[in-house]
Amino acid sequence: MRKTIIAGNWKMNKTNKETIIILTELKENVQKIDGTDKIGIIIGTPFTALSDAVKTTENSNIKIAAQNVYPKEAGAYTGEISPLMLKDIGVEYVILGHSERRDYFKESNSFINEKIKCVLSYEMSPIFCIGEQLEDRETGKTNEVITTQIKEGLSGISSEEAKNIIVAYEPVWAIGTGKTATPEIAEETHKEIRKVLKEMFGEVAEEMTVQYGGSMKPTNAKELLSQKNIDGGLIGGASLNAKDFSDIIKAAL
Ligand code: 13P
Repeated sequence: MRKTIIAGNWKMNKTNKETIIILTELKENVQKIDGTDKIGIIIGTPFTALSDAVKTTENSNIKIAAQNVYPKEAGAYTGEISPLMLKDIGVEYVILGHSERRDYFKESNSFINEKIKCVLSYEMSPIFCIGEQLEDRETGKTNEVITTQIKEGLSGISSEEAKNIIVAYEPVWAIGTGKTATPEIAEETHKEIRKVLKEMFGEVAEEMTVQYGGSMKPTNAKELLSQKNIDGGLIGGASLNAKDFSDIIKAAL
């Protein structure tokens, strides 16, 4: 059985104080919802709030993710954060390959691959984001684009290691736009993603969580999450308040 995982990506939002307030409320909400022990719940906060986010969610099944990492343990890399630093404060997941990092910071598939391997070596789990641009979809290149992202991003990774990777399919045209992929469109691409994962990792691919991300909200979550190959969500805007995020968790149960 694949694990359903609902994750929030706060992007560059929320101060440390705000983080503590929201996560305290979320923790209380989650405790009141039956069955949340069967799914994964993750929140990706900015670096500055990670330490307090881990402390605030102690003794709950909410886990904390970083939104980036530099793939070296330590050294002269001004402004960067190492996996050792994240591991040290109790971070368990790292969001990698997000389209905003690919677009604004020109992160390549091979750099993302380096980061994924590094995060795995510190026994944290990458949330590996892939997704096509609008132009790719309109010109029929979706499958080609995501196949390249997966093959290059996960190159040199063993089936054993792949068990610890969450894949997040985020069509770029659906991120922050209010335009969600229809459940059918999302499912079709998720099926293709699982096919590529199967070619690389065999039966392990059946166990890998593949999330959908892109304008997921309480009103559309249930329909998306009921698709066979959609095993959770990576949520931006609707993860910024505890109520909406809790409602998405309920939709996953
Ligand atoms: P939105 O849910 O705001 O569209 O963002 C999705 C996303 O990019 C999550 O990583």
